[in-house]
Amino acid sequence: MARNKSLSKRDSYIWFDGRFMKSEAAHVNVLTHSLQYGTGIFEGIRSFSYNNRTSIFRLREHAERFINTAKICNMKFGLNRSQIEKAIIDTVRKNGSSEFYIRPFAFYNDSHIGLSVEGKKVSTIIAAVPFGAYFAGKEKGLRCGISSWRRINPAILPTEAKLSGNYANSLLASMEAKASGYDEAILLSQEGFVAEGAAENIFLVQNGKLVTPSKEADILMGITRDTVIKLAETMAITVEEREVHREELYTSDEAFFTGTAAGIAPITHIDGRKLGNGNAGAITSSLAANYAKAVHGELEMFKNWCTFV
Ligand SMILES: Cc1ncc(COP(=O)(O)O)c(C=O)c1O
Repeated sequence: MARNKSLSKRDSYIWFDGRFMKSEAAHVNVLTHSLQYGTGIFEGIRSFSYNNRTSIFRLREHAERFINTAKICNMKFGLNRSQIEKAIIDTVRKNGSSEFYIRPFAFYNDSHIGLSVEGKKVSTIIAAVPFGAYFAGKEKGLRCGISSWRRINPAILPTEAKLSGNYANSLLASMEAKASGYDEAILLSQEGFVAEGAAENIFLVQNGKLVTPSKEADILMGITRDTVIKLAETMAITVEEREVHREELYTSDEAFFTGTAAGIAPITHIDGRKLGNGNAGAITSSLAANYAKAVHGELEMFKNWCTFV
């Protein structure tokens, strides 16, 4: 199939339990357990095209997190890491090896009313959809507000899992932020420390250092977060992973979100207060430039992050 062919929604292919089918044929019953109860698990991965090559970014780490989510949720979907990786690579190829947001999703494909999943079939699908900017039109900087919704915590739901039901928390926060005129929400942990965005990790820049909430704030341990920490090391930028107080959001020089979908997205205003001079800062911009090189396989040191397909 031709490389970099742009796809209309109609002719994309879904990998469904080992077979490819046209997306419009990939249906489930409306009573499907995971639709009714939010019991699906998923990943979000990106492929990037550059110089006539397409690569999947940090495929191994995403496949590992998918498996870990399944373990946490005690969902048995019967694929090992290399099978998942191969299925993802095949899906990207089948759809024309282009810039995609890739969505592996495993779910209880059973349409009974009732919570029990004993003996119920687990299905896995993989979609690869063309994807533009996540915060389209906001590339110069986001205006964020602290949410009245607190980030879920592991006593309630497994925060390290990409479990569909967790995202009701993200959605409520994000909807509230937008209704208040912000671009995105920042959630605090149950204890009142800064946790993360609705579906992004957060970094602050203070006197040339990076500061980011640690695992104790019940964050999702983002793969882009890890990428930024590793890139910062090579740029001689110190990174502090620690508890972050709300006030620090107002006094930092710069701030940005990280995420597979969001990339590195500058934050210029929080709760109506301007950070620095109100523009994306120098450290955010240099990290974003290096991140762009990394995802395109241009950083020799981190070439192993890219799986070329
Ligand atoms: C709740 C949440 N936090 C953070 C992130 C960022 O994680 P990653 O960089 O692995 O995409 C995501 C996106 O997956 C998310 O859903």
